[in-house]
Amino acid sequence: MKAIIAAGGKGTRLYPLTFTSNKHMLPIANKPLLLYSFEDIVRVGIKEIGIIVNEARPSIENLFGDGSKWGVKITYIDQFVAKGLAHVVKISEQFINGDSFVYHLGDNIFTKGIKKPFDKFKKVKPDALLTIIEHDENYRLGVPFFDDKGKLVRVVEKPKNPPNRFGIPGLYMFSPKVFEAFQGKDAIKPSPRGELEIVDLYNYMLKKGYKVEVAELEGQWRDPGKFDDSLEANKLLMDLDKRTEIKGSVDKNSKLSDGVVLGKGSKVINSQIVGPVRIGNNVEIRNSYIGPYTAIGSDCQLVNCKVEYSIFLEDVNIVDVKGKIEASIIGKHTEIRQTKERIPRYSFIIADHCRIDLPF
Ligand code: G1P
Repeated sequence: MKAIIAAGGKGTRLYPLTFTSNKHMLPIANKPLLLYSFEDIVRVGIKEIGIIVNEARPSIENLFGDGSKWGVKITYIDQFVAKGLAHVVKISEQFINGDSFVYHLGDNIFTKGIKKPFDKFKKVKPDALLTIIEHDENYRLGVPFFDDKGKLVRVVEKPKNPPNRFGIPGLYMFSPKVFEAFQGKDAIKPSPRGELEIVDLYNYMLKKGYKVEVAELEGQWRDPGKFDDSLEANKLLMDLDKRTEIKGSVDKNSKLSDGVVLGKGSKVINSQIVGPVRIGNNVEIRNSYIGPYTAIGSDCQLVNCKVEYSIFLEDVNIVDVKGKIEASIIGKHTEIRQTKERIPRYSFIIADHCRIDLPF
């Protein structure tokens, strides 16, 4: 059994952050998003993992290396043009080399992992397995259609009137028969949006009479492709893991609640932190308030400020800011500071696609 993880794509809905970082490397609860899917795969015991990458390959290779740190072997598979989720399967054929495999989207988070559907796939050995989950907005997703007897008959991409409440998240399982879908006169074709669709792989298998099983996922599913979703996923994961872990120093004038993770070399001075909060290494927090659901990357400096429900990447410097910073995502090597000037004026250095909300 092998696994592939899709980590290409442009992440346009997260511009400008994704101009300089791959979407899959953005931290959620202070951990790169891609690590969640990778750990799901490692936890079920799969040892050979292909990661599909684009030009962001160096940053991903830098994180995972050859996989030996996790006791697995990683193969990097280049995807030079993104042509849809089924295209990822197509370009992985050589790596899969006749095995069965799990296909996990690298930006999907499953709070209960993938063990339940994976165990079914291993035990029943179908030609394909479709995972499903209830979703309020399943018209935005691939939706499974069942007949009167509850048998899966087809999967429809973003139907206007879904006949049930299920959608398909980014977790698919296939036998090597799936590669037949790219050959011959019945080969799947790009959809009207120009992509080889994942739903068409399942429809191909169903049409050929291959055995397609369905498994409902346990727990919650998130695919944080937008700002609000990223902040929400950040909150959800901290709610599920409210551990306290203090590796840095806290002076006697500071107050920390439970659920605070403070990394090595970090210092908290005359400040209050209300968890759940994650703080990386070598961060300085001085005369400040850090509220719940804040994840602060390493090497940040926060002085005389108030922050809540936000994600800061590495080396963010916030100094002497009067109002509370909330629901914000701030990229690497940035600075926000109050100036001493008497006439109120704003001075910005802002990249493309930024959004700044100023108080009335
Ligand atoms: C893709 C798939 C869709 C699936 C969804 C899960 O949609 O095409 O079937 O339900 O991922 O996130 P897209 O993100 O391309 O709209």
